Amino acid sequence: MRVLGIETSCDETGVAVYDQNEGLLINKIYSQSLLHSHYGGVVPELAARDHTLRIIPLIVSALRETGLTSSDINGIAYTAGPGLIGSLLVGSAVACALAYAWNIPIIDIHHMEAHLLAPMLNQKNISFDSGFYSNCTDVIKFPFIALLVSGGHTQLVMVKKIGEYKILGESIDDAVGEVFDKIAVLLGLQYPGGAALSVMARNGIKGRYIFPKPMIHKPGLNFSFSGLKTAVSRVILSLKTNDNQVKADIACGFECAAIETLTIKCYRALKQTQIKNLVISGGVSANLVLRSYLSNMLESMQGTLLYPPKLEFCTDNGAMVACAGLIRLKSGLAHTNLSILVKPRWSLESLPKVEI
Ligand code: KG4
Ligand code: ZN
Repeated sequence: MRVLGIETSCDETGVAVYDQNEGLLINKIYSQSLLHSHYGGVVPELAARDHTLRIIPLIVSALRETGLTSSDINGIAYTAGPGLIGSLLVGSAVACALAYAWNIPIIDIHHMEAHLLAPMLNQKNISFDSGFYSNCTDVIKFPFIALLVSGGHTQLVMVKKIGEYKILGESIDDAVGEVFDKIAVLLGLQYPGGAALSVMARNGIKGRYIFPKPMIHKPGLNFSFSGLKTAVSRVILSLKTNDNQVKADIACGFECAAIETLTIKCYRALKQTQIKNLVISGGVSANLVLRSYLSNMLESMQGTLLYPPKLEFCTDNGAMVACAGLIRLKSGLAHTNLSILVKPRWSLESLPKVEI
């Protein structure tokens, strides 16, 4: 069984093919970041238009490079939401048109479930009999906690099984990746600057700038990052400095506050649920400081941390959509209703259960 995955929820056009026995056969990505960098953030209309230009050539080259034809594909998985409506519509329209032409079913994929499954993208033969695998050696048993951290979401989710999710907490305002990007722009870095800010922070002196860790003294597992964003922005705008050391010190102070907040909330979620296993995914899970804080925390609790096996699987990609699609196809959740359907807002908790 083979699934073609299409990701167009934001500003990355992703196409991949996932094979039930061989695993990931190809993963192609076109990033629009340069297009949006002039504006310091994603311009939804430009994103949608650019997807229309990129998607078909990417699919054609993915098939050409793997030597596959339409008859080798058993289903088309596409990101149906959440995301930008114009961008989602492009993926949905292409998935429906190809499914009609190739006479195969489609599978609507929840973008955050796809992120959540990305840690197992190295796996060859998908099976969840005893747990959730990132590769041949690391296994996490159900249930586990997932920290989903991207440009659009910050969520703590209890995963009872694939398809059975309980949201324990989420951001009540900005997503953590979004705040990394906004601070990065103020520090003179190109959008999306989360990764570059983290590199800049490595030269910073810890403790020179100390920013508030939002909502850690309030009970509960929700996040709020807009206060931290305002505090850091105020310092940058008042200093108006071009001094690289000062900028690095601010970046370091910001990163510390954001990552420590995420770590404290993860600790709280694990303690509250008595679960010892944590999966992180989404663009910000590429952050090495986050990985190191969390792995130290889990070591002290004798727990396990799992993240996507490659950095390219942390940020948006078609591979995670194809993989989620294969799982849902195998459990009978593909369909042939080819009306173009997207859900810009869509709760993870409302997904149909997966029976494998
Ligand atoms: O998952 P993703 O590709 O897109 C959404 O679904 O939103 O996440 C992109 C986000 C961006 O905000 C980007 O700056 C951030 O992930 N990001 C990072 C790092 N790498 C990517 N943030 C902090 N540190 C990183 N190393
Ligand atoms: Zn994403």
